[in-house]
Amino acid sequence: MVSFQLAGRTVVVTGAGQGQGTAEARLLVEAGARVIATDLAADVPAELAALSSSSGGALVYRQLDVADAAGWSGLAQWIQSRGWRVDGLVNNAGITQRSRLLDASVDDLQRVYEVNVAGALLGIQALTPLMASGSAIVNVGSVAGLTAHYPVAYTASKWALRGLSQVAAMELGPQGIRVNTVHPGFIDTPMTASAKPVFRRATLAEIPLGRTGGVEEVAGVVLFLLSPLSSFVTGAEIPVDGGQSGHGGAKSVSDALR
Ligand SMILES: NC(=O)c1ccc[n+]([C@@H]2O[C@H](COP(=O)([O-])OP(=O)(O)OC[C@H]3O[C@@H](n4cnc5c(N)ncnc54)[C@H](O)[C@@H]3O)[C@@H](O)[C@H]2O)c1
Repeated sequence: MVSFQLAGRTVVVTGAGQGQGTAEARLLVEAGARVIATDLAADVPAELAALSSSSGGALVYRQLDVADAAGWSGLAQWIQSRGWRVDGLVNNAGITQRSRLLDASVDDLQRVYEVNVAGALLGIQALTPLMASGSAIVNVGSVAGLTAHYPVAYTASKWALRGLSQVAAMELGPQGIRVNTVHPGFIDTPMTASAKPVFRRATLAEIPLGRTGGVEEVAGVVLFLLSPLSSFVTGAEIPVDGGQSGHGGAKSVSDALR
């Protein structure tokens, strides 16, 4: 039987309190990993509490605002104090901001960057000193970072995250640390639940698979990228979007000619 070979490995997941982060934590625990699940809440979110007693690996919860450099150093010190190293980091925490081009303020831009870009940078800076060769980092981008998705601050932040990921892959490669990016399309989570119905309909028309994605469908790709099964993959970007980004806008033309 093929295994993800993650048993006993320690993986930090940010924004693990709901949505894709919870699914990543759940799958990692099932694969036998020790998951350090982090999010903004002081108390362990309900879904994660249920996981800490499930079979497979283990889960511990720590409060962490990814935009807080001191929080990251505190987390690194806590991990070190337990005598653990870090084998994986999933920079999953992210926020959206839906202002359009002519309405977006510098504050909008800064807040989204603080979480979506600086959060990932701070995580990489804090935890790579605890990583040995064979470790892996997965950054969670977005189809927005591959296209001209209209919410400009969010889109710009995800394009910036791609740049950060590529630099990190180059700089950390010599240490045997891999860095890859997944780009989710429309995934059913609390984030997309707050989107307008017309956004869902219009997006569905752009997805060749004709449906939205589930959180496990992103988590599976994240697990593969954390696993030694992907040991020669670094600096890669994998859309998990039902084909939305691959057609580059050609779908509406094709559909119109059917
Ligand atoms: N859902 C989608 O369709 C979709 C599509 C593309 C990309 N993404 C990306 O996937 C990731 C997860 O998205 P989701 O849909 O699960 O979102 P979500 O809003 O359901 O969950 C995000 C989690 O991140 C946490 N978070 C927010 N700010 C934080 C901070 N400063 N520090 C720590 N944690 C913080 C939240 O508390 C929440 O638990 C994000 O990076 C998002 O941009 C999502």
